[in-house]
Amino acid sequence: MAISGFRPRRSQTEMAKAIAHAIAERSTLIAEAGTGTGKTFAYLIPALLWGGKVVISTGTKNLQDQLYLRDIPTVRKALNMPVSVALLKGRANYVCHFHLERTLQNGRLTSRDDVGYLREISRFMKTTSSGDKAELSKVPESAPVWNLVTSTRDTCLGAECQYYQDCFVMKARKEAQQAEVVVVNHHLFFADVALKDTGVAELLPSANTIIFDEAHQLPETATLFFGETVSTSQVLELCRDVLAEGLAHARDGAEWPKVVLPVERAARDLRLAFPQDIVRLAVGQIAPSSPFFPALETLKEELQNMADTLETQAERAETIEQCRTRAVELGIKLAAWNATDSVKEGQERVLWVEAFSSSLHLHQTPLSIAPVFSKQREGTPRAWIFTSATLAVKNDFNHYASQMGLWSEPARSWPSPFNYEEQGLLYVPEQLPQPNSPDYTDAVINAALPMIEAAGGRAFLLCTTIRAVNRAAERLREEFARRTLPFPLMVQGEAGRTELLDRFRAAGNAVLIGSQSFWEGVDVRGEALSLVVIDKLPFSPPDDPVLAARIEALERKGLNGFVHHQLPEAIINLKQGAGRLIRDETDRGVLMICDPRLISKPYGRRIWQSLPSFKRTRDANVARAFFAPAPAAVADVQPELDPEVTD
Ligand SMILES: Nc1ncnc2c1ncn2[C@@H]1O[C@H](COP(=O)(O)OP(=O)(O)OP(=O)(O)O)[C@@H](O)[C@H]1O
Ligand code: SF4
Ligand SMILES: [Mg+2]
Repeated sequence: MAISGFRPRRSQTEMAKAIAHAIAERSTLIAEAGTGTGKTFAYLIPALLWGGKVVISTGTKNLQDQLYLRDIPTVRKALNMPVSVALLKGRANYVCHFHLERTLQNGRLTSRDDVGYLREISRFMKTTSSGDKAELSKVPESAPVWNLVTSTRDTCLGAECQYYQDCFVMKARKEAQQAEVVVVNHHLFFADVALKDTGVAELLPSANTIIFDEAHQLPETATLFFGETVSTSQVLELCRDVLAEGLAHARDGAEWPKVVLPVERAARDLRLAFPQDIVRLAVGQIAPSSPFFPALETLKEELQNMADTLETQAERAETIEQCRTRAVELGIKLAAWNATDSVKEGQERVLWVEAFSSSLHLHQTPLSIAPVFSKQREGTPRAWIFTSATLAVKNDFNHYASQMGLWSEPARSWPSPFNYEEQGLLYVPEQLPQPNSPDYTDAVINAALPMIEAAGGRAFLLCTTIRAVNRAAERLREEFARRTLPFPLMVQGEAGRTELLDRFRAAGNAVLIGSQSFWEGVDVRGEALSLVVIDKLPFSPPDDPVLAARIEALERKGLNGFVHHQLPEAIINLKQGAGRLIRDETDRGVLMICDPRLISKPYGRRIWQSLPSFKRTRDANVARAFFAPAPAAVADVQPELDPEVTD
């Protein structure tokens, strides 16, 4: 096999065989193998060899790019098979000719930056062949102008559009339809199951193999999409469009400003039913006397009035008819938000609100996605492969299988080919404050700095919150300058993820600070990454209403929610983060987990026992010595986290 540095790995070969078998049989397989063991090749090789249409779905756009730009070309070349490959992203990734034109004409831009960006985007449109915004790195991904030059399902004119022939969204879908291998992401996949808008549904009928990588994320992603969300900003956007389209095409048909005003007011009042700061509340947590309930009723009524007016003018323009449909659909979603009724058709749902600074989101989230997803898999038999490093809890796949409705499907786990005891060291520093103390991130940086120096950069600092990412970046920038340390610092958000990782690999002595999106799937093999620092145990925030509802459901069954839900989830997360370190038989590195609860809490032991079997220490000198040139430095390290003492 002509892949550079390729050495046969037994578990990888066995996994590839099992996947080949499932593909040939058009059956389902749940396949678990540890982080870094080479699952990507283990599914790409049999899938490409078998042929037919293959849909690969992965966790993030970042991993989509990694597959499309790096792994698939490698395998295609090694197998010498010229299969056609397409990358399909969500519609918000492609510049829309219609909306770009409209924005250029009516110039609703509010900031000077956006004016400059808009100019860049129009220039880009003259040369791009994909319209993918990822190709235009001059305009940051988060620039508000993107919203004005891309379409949504609601605002796309579809076949009626004058730009339909040149449309990038349509082009990407067409290419995906024709390609043999299509790379999508879980969001796109499930958005399509729910909304039929991303072009994935049209791919499925012809696909004979569907592979989910990072499949442990599916329950959460699917939950997001099998639920429904309606927001006050959607209502306000609709009002804006009603006003613009009404004035443009039916000026004499209604007093448009008066038509939209009461709806806008009702939407704002709904937001104001909650305090200014950001809150998430389950419906049961909202006081019955809250202004929220009457405000919701008013909004429903006003929206209906607006829909009635739109109906009288709908024949005058396609865009007015489109506004009418949107008004009706929003009305239906709000109607389903019948506050006291949280059980629908025997399926348990959580109703909850989420307040942002200027909008309110109303969510309905299913407690279980198993029924919907298993329905999805009915019909023409095809191979469904679910793979990840973390699907089972100690070889027991029940939790995952029942969440996904994959009862009684075959599941297998393959051991890691790495010698973790020799290759890695787990270091838990002493004397860190409690993770909720205000100066916690500073303490993490103080403890990590000597390690970063000893490692010569080559470090990932993985944080559980964006706030910690920012604080850590600020501190490290200062310290590197003060100590004249030469390590390039890369911070999530400064550039696209693929670009950051490329720079990180190329630098060879860089330090990268990232949050959740860098915890999973990211592959940096070899010397460039030798230290992974994790700030806190990644427990999900306890105020999350969906989490609270799931815990409640467990407790109704007599199970402890922390033990059966939060802890395993945190362990899976942590294993993913830790898994960035050892990616090869010759990789070596230190995993530094700063959180003192790993030692002080009774559950800590369960956590570190679930991690790869690295040697362990609490001694900073021992940890630093791991990076000393002589490999003998590790030989006399004894495991120091004595289970007896830690409990
Ligand atoms: N047989 C092999 N010999 C040498 N290198 C390999 C082999 N198989 C895979 N690799 C390399 O090992 C690294 C890890 O592979 P990969 O990213 O597929 O791991 P993974 O199992 O998907 O891990 P994760 O769960 O963290 O995503 C990659 O750089 C890959 O190119
Ligand atoms: S078809 Fe839709 S996405 Fe494409 S250019 Fe027209 S409005 Fe935009
Ligand atoms: Mg992987």
